Amino acid sequence: MTTKIYSVTAREILDSRGNPTVEATVILENGYRGTSAVAAGASKGSHEAVELRDGDKKRYMGSGVLKAVENVNGPINKRIRGTDALNQQGIDTALIELDGTPNKSKLGANSVLATSMAVAVAAAASQRQPLYRYLNSLFTSFHQTKLDRIPTPTFNMINGGLHGAGNLNFQEFHIVPASNKPFHEGLEMGVSVYYSIKQILQYRNAVHSVGDEGGFAPNLFTNMDALEVLMDAIRNTHYRFGVDIYLGLDLAATQFLGENGYLIKDKPIAYKPAEFIDYLVEIHNKFHLLILEDPLAEDDWDGWKKLTSRIGSDVLIVGDDLLATNPERLKKAIEMKACTAILAKPNQIGSLSEFMNVAAIAKTHDIKIITSHRSGETTDTFVADLAVAIQSEYVKFGAPVRGERVAKYNRLLAIETEMIAAK
Ligand code: PGA
Ligand code: ZN
Repeated sequence: MTTKIYSVTAREILDSRGNPTVEATVILENGYRGTSAVAAGASKGSHEAVELRDGDKKRYMGSGVLKAVENVNGPINKRIRGTDALNQQGIDTALIELDGTPNKSKLGANSVLATSMAVAVAAAASQRQPLYRYLNSLFTSFHQTKLDRIPTPTFNMINGGLHGAGNLNFQEFHIVPASNKPFHEGLEMGVSVYYSIKQILQYRNAVHSVGDEGGFAPNLFTNMDALEVLMDAIRNTHYRFGVDIYLGLDLAATQFLGENGYLIKDKPIAYKPAEFIDYLVEIHNKFHLLILEDPLAEDDWDGWKKLTSRIGSDVLIVGDDLLATNPERLKKAIEMKACTAILAKPNQIGSLSEFMNVAAIAKTHDIKIITSHRSGETTDTFVADLAVAIQSEYVKFGAPVRGERVAKYNRLLAIETEMIAAK
């Protein structure tokens, strides 16, 4: 009995927003199996690999994934049956060739990635290895990386933009525990601040329903007010701002760039791009941000370069929509010094080996990595193992609440315990 693939099958399941997504199961000839499901974004960058949706308005408002499922059960199964699951790169290359397009628009990144991840899960099981260890061994052929620490979590505590039911333009307001805290301590800090934020919002009589990633989705006067809420909340705990806890932002700025510039509720008329850079520097001077993600639109390379030259030595300027976990865009950003960190999302590129290649390029050029979930998630915890395997500096898995977010944080707790025991 060998580690050859006996079959790969897929099905349509639901993500945390109730949207369909692809889950695949790989069974090996030796009986070991692996299952994995793909996440989905709401504020997608235009340079991401293509997520195949059926477009049939009679089912799930057009967002069904039956075609992607069919692609797994049909051509993908036919192509990779009988190949060795331990040869992850060979399988990913075969899938990329089978698709044949630069952005996986034929088979869909959802069908390719679900298969790619399920192959790794089955292979790890067959080797009787925890997934993060097996993935780390795969990553070693891209970049020698020793398993050492659990990435620092960055918690999305207030949800705006496309993720929140409130009225904020910036998409995510984060708190980040200091990197010298052990993971379990950082997680506890996250929960303390989360409930402290709830109290502040109740006191301010702001709506405190939650958004897609579990953070609060209040109505406030300005985006700046949300940062003040975070500061007040931290003050009400025993943690020290700037020592134990820092702040971070994901603006997802492409979403509020209009014809006249960046329009946000803090100012009645839109900021011209150059003014907006000054404004971002002002925010940074006031709140000493640790992380600043997608501060400018996804194709404003010159703006990114200017901002990075002004404050990039002091705050992580993180490319999400800018880079789309794409090796060519990352190389361009490195050459231009357009950012200092990458938000790495498996489904933006669409296969495990390509993701690892991007992570290796980042590491070689001292670009920090934040391994990230999507706003539409399942309870799959693959991304937590992956983050540890590549030893990314940070993980972004949402607020420390809601099953699909907590599943990943809990997986990191388990890995932390195991890694401590192994030391
Ligand atoms: P998305 O948002 O998953 O909706 O794209 C996450 C992010 O912008 O970081
Ligand atoms: Zn983002």
